[in-house]
Amino acid sequence: MQDIFIPIIYLFSAVLFILGLRQLSHPRTAPKGNTTAAIGMLLAVTATLLNNQILDFQTIFIGIVIGSAIGAVLAKRVEMTSMPQLVALFNGFGGSASLLVAAAEFYKGEPLLVFTLATIILSVLIGAITFSGSLVAFSKLQGIMRGAPIKFSGQHSFNGLLTGVVVLLAVYAVLDPAQASNAVLAIIVIALLLGILFVIPIGGADMPVVISMLNSFSGLAACSTGFVIQNDALIISGSLVGASGIILTDIMCKGMNRTIWNVLFAGVGYDAEASPLEVDPMKTVKSYEPGDTVVIFENAKQIIIVPGYGLAVAQAQYMVHELQELLEGKGVIVKYAIHPVAGRMPGHMNVLLAEANVPYDSLYDLDQINPEFEETDVTLVIGANDVVNPAARHDTNSPIFGMPILDVDKSQTVFVLKRSMNPGFAGIENELFYNDNTIMIFGDAKDTVSKLVSELK
Ligand code: TAP
Repeated sequence: MQDIFIPIIYLFSAVLFILGLRQLSHPRTAPKGNTTAAIGMLLAVTATLLNNQILDFQTIFIGIVIGSAIGAVLAKRVEMTSMPQLVALFNGFGGSASLLVAAAEFYKGEPLLVFTLATIILSVLIGAITFSGSLVAFSKLQGIMRGAPIKFSGQHSFNGLLTGVVVLLAVYAVLDPAQASNAVLAIIVIALLLGILFVIPIGGADMPVVISMLNSFSGLAACSTGFVIQNDALIISGSLVGASGIILTDIMCKGMNRTIWNVLFAGVGYDAEASPLEVDPMKTVKSYEPGDTVVIFENAKQIIIVPGYGLAVAQAQYMVHELQELLEGKGVIVKYAIHPVAGRMPGHMNVLLAEANVPYDSLYDLDQINPEFEETDVTLVIGANDVVNPAARHDTNSPIFGMPILDVDKSQTVFVLKRSMNPGFAGIENELFYNDNTIMIFGDAKDTVSKLVSELK
């Protein structure tokens, strides 16, 4: 019976994973997608444990209760701005699980086929890199480690050398399985080191791309481990994670007009302490108090709100939604322009605004909204910087040249809400702030929006 039932349950859970992924592609269906995929995983885990008779029902149940409790507490307590580091930790756990399962299979000491040994080596290698790399990514985002790129001379050559040694050890182990024990141990240690060395030279703000790539790695490690222990569910779910992680990485790179090689090896990142931005003292900006803007807001036909990383930092989403409702009550059309890499993780702005119950219909992608700026009276940039920098369109020397941006400068009046003249992630000056039609409103985004709301009331 088990021989028939277990594969059917695996197939059913694989279908649930794919359906879940499909539902995750839209904010409206995303919560359902999470539940669908979680049910798939619950089925797969339970079927595996029953199949191999590793543990009894009681232990499975206790594991599920403890795991669910930790997951629920984390999900409730972790701030939206800390979500990337939480995902980094989860990836790290995924990688270490593959590492441990494959290593356990190896150190059981049973004779292994060459194919199985090769998949074990692949699992421990990718699993260890994912584990240590994810911990570094977590530490950078959590502020435990310096976010700026950590570089030393000859770094890439040293990493290349270590990679070469790992390849040689892997070949040696596969050719002589009887002597493979020390080689596998050495591969694990070097892979752990490689994970650290590979992530430290990458700037903190590029971590979402790295995390998405490590997510893909954790999938590949799981897939490979699936071959080791001949578990179809692990092979299927690992492949899905591997593929979706790579697709997401590609989407992020395109959104920044950068290649993955540039993200991984160029060490892009702004270090405010090491190189503070020099601003030309001859250039001036116009700055208003929130109260000075009421007439302009009230007379606007259409207002486009552009959220950015600063909106997430200030947690201004609820206030912004209140502002939207107030303006709509006065007959103003309000739309949100969402840049694909605004904030610090994919879909950051969508999730943030959804949290404050901003209707999905008010959210517009870059391609949909860009033609509308010319017809728009007022654009309200809240904590966004790089994604609205016109230099990306024309300044070939700019590090963000070629990045698709929101053409906010084309609207009649642009209000920019931020605390200072400090740059954004790219560490460069924003010419938008000096334009004749731009007015800065300095202060914390939440404070400023709440002052705007009370003035409008
Ligand atoms: P940024 O260019 O990083 O600018 C954010 C701005 O928010 C800063 O200039 C900051 O200015 C302001 N700010 C911070 N805290 C604030 C607060 N409490 N109140 C008001 N303003 C505040 O953000 P962006 O325009 O969203 O662009 C995202 C950047 O991250 C891009 O360069 C993108 O390439 C990069 N990136 C994104 C991703 C993903 S997937 N989203 C992944 C990797 C890299 P003040 O300090 O003066 O307030």
